[in-house]
Amino acid sequence: MIIEKNISLKSYNSFGIEVNASVMYAVGSEEELIEVLSLVNPKTPQDLMVLGGGTNILLLNDVSIPIIKNDIRGIDIIDENEEFVFVKSGAGELWHGLVSFCLNNNLSGLENLSLIPGSVGASPMQNIGAYGVEVKDTFYSLTAIDIIEKSKRIFNNRDCEFGYRESVFKKKLKGQYIITEVTFKLAKKPHLKIEYGAIKEELARHNNLLTYTIRNVSDAVIAIRKSKLPDPKLIGNAGSFFKNPEINLLEFAEIKKQHPDVVAYPIGTEKMKLAAGWLIENCGWKGYREKDAGVHVKQALVLVNYGKASGEELFLLSEKIVRSVQEKFNVLLEKEVNII
Ligand code: EPU
Repeated sequence: MIIEKNISLKSYNSFGIEVNASVMYAVGSEEELIEVLSLVNPKTPQDLMVLGGGTNILLLNDVSIPIIKNDIRGIDIIDENEEFVFVKSGAGELWHGLVSFCLNNNLSGLENLSLIPGSVGASPMQNIGAYGVEVKDTFYSLTAIDIIEKSKRIFNNRDCEFGYRESVFKKKLKGQYIITEVTFKLAKKPHLKIEYGAIKEELARHNNLLTYTIRNVSDAVIAIRKSKLPDPKLIGNAGSFFKNPEINLLEFAEIKKQHPDVVAYPIGTEKMKLAAGWLIENCGWKGYREKDAGVHVKQALVLVNYGKASGEELFLLSEKIVRSVQEKFNVLLEKEVNII
């Protein structure tokens, strides 16, 4: 276990916000985690903060409550049958490290989720997703520690109540558990998901093949992400700042009447998911910059810190965006990033 006091959190959040933490405990195992929980002895979820990769948070202030940094490592194949291989990963592993492990072992399921920043432990929390695939599609189970009881609980896929960028850990169990390990069920025979327009185009551009491998799909996803999304090592950001809003067909018809080129996808038969990036771009925000807080030039859904923006400045910018989208389209954008 590593204990650090009065440290800057700049390198611990992908927005690169400069705030300080009073104390941070980095834990490398479940035993160390339980030891820290006994020491900190939280009575409510508000008594501590858990940090994974720090890639989906916007920090507004210094953090005075203890921070637990999850550094639990290790990726192993734990079981297999004719069709599937079960891979268990420590929650503190980098997400893309797990994806690479699967690619190297020719296991299919995570290739569309290549290069997503963040940790494995955070992936089920917000059911990360990209290019037609979500974590819930390959998630098998996870182990988590109850922060108050300090007891262990296993959650299977259904227990997690996954939804679009949602899980039980963001809703009724918010802050109550710390995830220590996650197990994924990967396919031995590739089940490629390449219907997403950008993937199809990227595959066609570089390969003249009849069949593709999981490596081809991963390479295509990496190329698309690199072309659209800013690298947090170069420009601070937390990926999509807002969720793509879901609206009913009547509301959609109203928008479509005024804005025939609106970008949206059907969700089942009764709802449409709007591309929030399109809404924000059409309010004129794409490439906007106010001091060091801005809207990415290539993807309006991504807010960026060009250097010294504060959490407050980015937050205020996000509020202005929400207001203008509401005024122009009568649609309320919900934040995907956790404001702390
Ligand atoms: N668009 C614009 N202007 C923009 C951005 C997007 O008009 O500035 C329109 C375009 O028509 C584009 C469409 O919106 O074709 C969709 O854009 P994109 O493919 O970039 O995807 P997205 O809906 O903006 C979602 C996820 C991303 C994920 C991509 C790919 C959410 C909130 N975001 O973005 O996830 O990588 O799809 O699957 O669902 C993240 O969660 O942090 C994230 C980056």
